[in-house]
This record gives sequence, structure tokens and C-alpha cells, in this order.
Amino acid sequence: MRRDEGQFFDDDLMNAIRGSFACVESDPYCGKRIYLENAGGALKLKSVVEVVSELTALPDNAGRDNPASQETDAIIASGTEDVRTFLGARSGTIALGESTTSNVFKVLGSIIHYVPGDNVVTTNLDHPATFDATRILAERLRKQWRVAQLCREAGIVKPEAILEQIDTNTVVLALIHSSNILGTSNDVKTIIAEARKLKPDLYVLVDGAQRAPHQLVNVEELGCDVYLASSYKTFSKIGASVVYLSQRAADQSDGVVIWLPFTVRWAAVIQFSGACLDCYGGARAS
Ligand SMILES: Cc1ncc(COP(=O)(O)O)c(C=O)c1O
Repeated sequence: MRRDEGQFFDDDLMNAIRGSFACVESDPYCGKRIYLENAGGALKLKSVVEVVSELTALPDNAGRDNPASQETDAIIASGTEDVRTFLGARSGTIALGESTTSNVFKVLGSIIHYVPGDNVVTTNLDHPATFDATRILAERLRKQWRVAQLCREAGIVKPEAILEQIDTNTVVLALIHSSNILGTSNDVKTIIAEARKLKPDLYVLVDGAQRAPHQLVNVEELGCDVYLASSYKTFSKIGASVVYLSQRAADQSDGVVIWLPFTVRWAAVIQFSGACLDCYGGARAS
């Protein structure tokens, strides 16, 4: 099939892409099948499977004074730098946890506990990871829970719908970047800039679980305090999701959010995403 007939890549490139993934054509349980999953994020790169297997076999832990442990420390450091590149994070801290959902709970738990204010704002476009976390934590910590409403025609939450919920007592705004249900993207950069006109030191958490796999992110340009992405949504392993924390968010989360298991090789994913972006003409987004 040709491009004008619906084919984006030539056969060689398409075969190279398909060949990069494990279990595309068939799986050990169903046999041959056509794979239509997308947002769920279950496909894994073969290079990730290889690296995870190699590193899991290492008979040592981080932080010890011997060659295997030192190599482990070096891998953690280079993985952290890869994540910085992936999220455009020149400042702040990168941390890892088992999932975006658990990371949202941990980070928001600290922020809502420590930052003064009486209300928490989210949107009804948000995934349960953020929607439920804000509701549960607001209830537990006796804050008002405010939900900005989706514009059904546009499929996004418009900046004005969020701004009308923000005031000088808002502890945190937690919102989704790209929707797992609609595939639409909120104008997070504008929302953050406008919200900080209402409360200059407002904390903002952005759920990037569905954005980071599809467009390059620049947390510095967005101006958020927290940005979350799940490794398994970017063809990597399940059980290792990343968080960018601005320095002040890291300080609020003191002692709560520092875990660095070493089994993610973001370089493999970044390399693959880079190849795809080249195919699309090198798009760069904020
Ligand atoms: C937009 C969005 N946020 C958060 C999550 C939750 O991620 P995790 O499974 O890592 O907790 C998902 C998972 O589908 C998602 O699509």
C-alpha cells in the first residue's frame, strides 16, 4: 500500500518497527492475532526485555563498594539522565515509583498535607489516578474538592473552566495533559501561566501518562511542579513510572518520593521514539 492509500511508512521501515517489539504478531496464549491496544501500553520493545533480563541477573545491589554495584549506580545515573532528556527537565529531581497512580498519591499526599490552603482543583477529563487521588486526599485532609468541567464539544477542559475554580487558597491544581479516552490535549502551558496570575505560587501536577509517549515534553516550558509518565506506556517495562519534581515540590515531598530501581533503560525507548519522530518530520512539542 502507498502513502496516499493509507500507508505511512514504506515496507522496510514498517518491518523494522514491527520487528523491534516482542509478541506483535502472536502471543504464547492466543497464537496469531491482530494487535489493537494502543493507549493501554502493553507492547514492549525487545531491547527493553533484553536489558531488563541482563540487569535483573546482576548479583548485586546499588550503593555498595564493588564493581557490580558501582556499575549498577552508573546505570541508575545514566537512566536518570535519559529521563531528564525525555521530559526536558534541566532542573528539579527525577524519581521513580511503581506506577503513575501510586506516584500521584505519594506526591499529592505530601503537597496537600504541607502546602497551606483550603481547596484542591482537578478536572472531570482526568484519569482516575488523579481524579480519585485528589478526591480521596482532599476528603482525608479536609480540603474542598473542586472539579473543572470538560467542554463536550471541544473534548478538552478549557482554560476558563479551570481558572474559575482557582483562588488564592488553592493548594494544588492537578490535571491531565492528553486524554486516554478522547486523545485530546489540554493547553497546559496556558492554563498554568493563567492560573499563576491568580495564585503566583500555585503548585501544579500534570499527568503526562498519555502525552509523553506521543510528543516530546518540556517541563521547563510548561512550568509545572510535577510531571508523571509511565514507562509501560512508552514500550518499556511495567512497574517503573517516572516523576519530575520541581525543586520546591521535591522539598515538599522530602523522604516520601525517592526510589530508584534500576531496571528501566530509557535510552532504548528514547532512541525508538526519536526514530519515529524523524519519520514524522522531527516534531517537537511542549
Ligand atoms: C492518562 C493516564 N493517567 C494515569 C494512568 C495510570 O497509570 P499507571 O497504570 O501507571 O498507574 C493511565 C493509565 O492508563 C492513563 O492513561
